[in-house]
Amino acid sequence: MKATIVLLPGDGVGPEVVASAVKVLTRIGERFNHQWTFETKPIGGVALHAGQDSLPADTLRAAKAADAVLLGAVGDPAFDNRPPAQRPEVALLAIRREMGVFANLRPARVWPGLEESGPLKPAILAGTDLIVVRELLGGLYYGEPRGIEADGSAAVNTMRYSRVEIERVARVAFKLAQSRRKKLVSVDKANVLDVSRLWRNVVLEVAKEFPEVALTHEFVDAASMKLALAPSRFDVMLMENTFGDILSDEAGAICGSLGLLPSASLGDGPGLFEPVHGSAPDIAGKDIANPIGTIASAAMLLSDGLGLREEGAVVTSAIEHALKSGLRTADLAAPGQPSIGTKAFTDAVVGAL
Ligand code: IPM
Ligand code: MG
Repeated sequence: MKATIVLLPGDGVGPEVVASAVKVLTRIGERFNHQWTFETKPIGGVALHAGQDSLPADTLRAAKAADAVLLGAVGDPAFDNRPPAQRPEVALLAIRREMGVFANLRPARVWPGLEESGPLKPAILAGTDLIVVRELLGGLYYGEPRGIEADGSAAVNTMRYSRVEIERVARVAFKLAQSRRKKLVSVDKANVLDVSRLWRNVVLEVAKEFPEVALTHEFVDAASMKLALAPSRFDVMLMENTFGDILSDEAGAICGSLGLLPSASLGDGPGLFEPVHGSAPDIAGKDIANPIGTIASAAMLLSDGLGLREEGAVVTSAIEHALKSGLRTADLAAPGQPSIGTKAFTDAVVGAL
């Protein structure tokens, strides 16, 4: 296969972890005889520092024309005091919208050997393997009207969903559930929110197309509690944008480290693949960031973005292999246990490939 992969390393630890994923993709290209063309473009704080928009037009053009896009992280404290429209994060929301990636898949599972590195008792965590399907282009993040009133006396955001927005992400979640354990939990707040009542009705309608999937509903507060109490009971979890932002961080934390979580954002065009963690400016440039979230995002890029299932699975096994041999980045090492850096961990994964 020939594919153009656009790299958006971004801010903080982004460039380090994207470099790790590129090493892995390059090795996969050699082993399976694929030809990748990598194009690196600025986004977020790095673009702002260079006097450009946080999402430069050329970056967006390249991303839309790519076969897949791999993003590191966006966010730089240097811009914390800027008005919201000039913050690096705006670029993330803009690129998601412009690429039309409405379904955000965030798998969270216990990696072999890491059963004890999270906050939960290993017996409770055992067998956890779930995917949060987060609607990515609607709800509070994009709803109008929005804004702080001129006199500062009040502010408004709007949670709005159309039937079509709910249907299309629900279909992605049902299809995914069909390919897994055939269990789908739709998360909402239908006891309070009108948007959630529409959400639930539409999900129930879509369910008729997927009779073999067992659909249940949970209120978001109860889902959050059950995620901490019995995470292994979940398979696919479907929810709107804000609920998905929150519960996916929780799912990551219970699995041991947010640094482990990959994501795939899919729509009708090229997919956008990025680790769930942020730019982590405090540890940037120190070669200590955990590259697993980004390497696992590259695995999703191969499987879900380019349809290369075997290649994606091989990358996942290589991560498992490195972990099974006892290698740990600092975030995963138990107190007193030795840790290795981003590059050394990446080399171990590449070695296993
Ligand atoms: C995420 C992040 C982003 C979001 C931020 C950085 C805008 O938290 O991808 O989960 O809220 O979507
Ligand atoms: Mg988040």
